[in-house]
Amino acid sequence: MSSKIYLYPVWVRLWHLVNALMIILLILTGVSMQYSNPDAPFIRFDLAVSWHNIAGIILTVNYLLFIIGNIATHNGKYYRLRAKGLIDRLIKQFKYYTLGVYKGQQPPFPINEQRKFNPLQKIAYAFIMYLFMPLLFITGWALLFPETIWLNVFGVSGILLTALLHIVMGFVISVFLLVHIYFCTFGATATATFRSMISGYHEGH
Ligand code: HEM
Repeated sequence: MSSKIYLYPVWVRLWHLVNALMIILLILTGVSMQYSNPDAPFIRFDLAVSWHNIAGIILTVNYLLFIIGNIATHNGKYYRLRAKGLIDRLIKQFKYYTLGVYKGQQPPFPINEQRKFNPLQKIAYAFIMYLFMPLLFITGWALLFPETIWLNVFGVSGILLTALLHIVMGFVISVFLLVHIYFCTFGATATATFRSMISGYHEGH
């Protein structure tokens, strides 16, 4: 029997839409600046720089709204990780994703009003939103104002280290994006989870 639960309030859906669009723009412009042949760039270099800066600013403001929303509403509690038994829960969910799902088994951590994310989703979202995204912003803003960066960190250029950390975070978030979209197809049907982010309603198995 299928059931519907309202899990994605309008503000989460709007935040997520802006977030996804800005991240995609940042990846395209970032990759273009980093790897294109300067004589035949994927996106003209000066345009890529300005779009990257503007998208980064919008993404940061949008992120602050996400943090405020998660503090002000109960959405933040879905991200709280309980250390006790975490490894066991992660293994259980991993087994479901790698075996159970193909055998038509029921998910070990069904979604309800109290539990919006399964343990693997929760840990991935918590790390991305509360560790990797902040590191991406801090290094991005530092590169926008390079005079704030230490010139020398134990004999290595501070700018080089900041740029390196920024690119690694960009890479991690790009890989997350691909994995994230793939795992979103594991809903009640392959498209059910994507519909949830439009309608606000989670469709149960
Ligand atoms: C085209 C790009 C994207 C698509 C199609 C997509 C799709 C989805 C869908 C269908 C959901 C609802 C299922 C769930 O709660 O797990 C979701 C939730 C979520 N996505 Fe994405 N996503 C995209 C980009 C991103 C990016 C770039 C990030 C972060 C860097 C992100 C972070 C999240 C988070 C944190 C949630 C949970 C939000 C909440 O309910 O509090 N997504 N995404």
